[in-house]
Amino acid sequence: MRFIFLGAPGAGKGTYAGPLSREWKIPTISTGDILRENVKQNTELGRQAKTYMERGALVPDEVVTGMMAERLSEPDAVRGFILDGYPRTIQQAEALDKILAEQNHGLNAVVNIEVSREVIIQRLTGRRACPQCHANYNVNTSLRPRVENVCDRCGAGLITRSDDNEETITQRLAVYAEQTAPLIDFYRQDGLLRSITAIGEVPEILNAIRAAVKGN
Ligand code: AP5
Repeated sequence: MRFIFLGAPGAGKGTYAGPLSREWKIPTISTGDILRENVKQNTELGRQAKTYMERGALVPDEVVTGMMAERLSEPDAVRGFILDGYPRTIQQAEALDKILAEQNHGLNAVVNIEVSREVIIQRLTGRRACPQCHANYNVNTSLRPRVENVCDRCGAGLITRSDDNEETITQRLAVYAEQTAPLIDFYRQDGLLRSITAIGEVPEILNAIRAAVKGN
């Protein structure tokens, strides 16, 4: 099973990929999480990525593609995956096609997660993230942690991501509209696109995704 979860920043890609990844026994590969980990560890890749991420711009295609070619060749990913946050440009989508063709694999479906701008702003301004296990919570929605600022799953202290401020959110949404939204047509033409509206409680949305990819 090889799926892409596509959607604007804050649409809920990571929130829905987590449980489905456990259920389907395939890894979620989040470029955002890999890049943030590199920034935290102060690696060469992290130093390159940091300035782009802080201002809500995309990290250059060649940097991300090199990183993903490596990650997708790891044994767990060769068996299947959910991609969260990749590809994000037509150039990255073409590079992904090439990587998969070299492995004699193809994509099963691209889940396009749709929500209004208003909901996105509410979700991103209230998001609290666990820096350790990458679980997400939200102080503006029903997804609050049981204990304020503490991760339910691993007990680590929760943080507000440095790019979850209104100025950077506006920039990330503009970048999405310009550089990532064209992927909707790209994958529609391939017959891979499955669009769902991600409004409501998480279990309902997970059901909509299961139904959308059934048989793929
Ligand atoms: P990345 O980490 O991928 O950020 P993003 O795309 O902006 O997406 P988010 O993680 O913000 O949102 P999400 O859709 O996963 O929403 P979530 O599930 O958290 O990328 C960060 C940066 O890295 C980029 O700006 C770029 O610089 C760089 N980068 C990454 N990939 C790249 C690439 N391929 N190429 C180049 N650069 C790249 O949900 C949001 C909130 O809503 C959470 O708090 C959640 O709890 C809540 N929520 C979700 N659903 C519900 C619901 N149904 N009910 C109530 N609350 C909900």
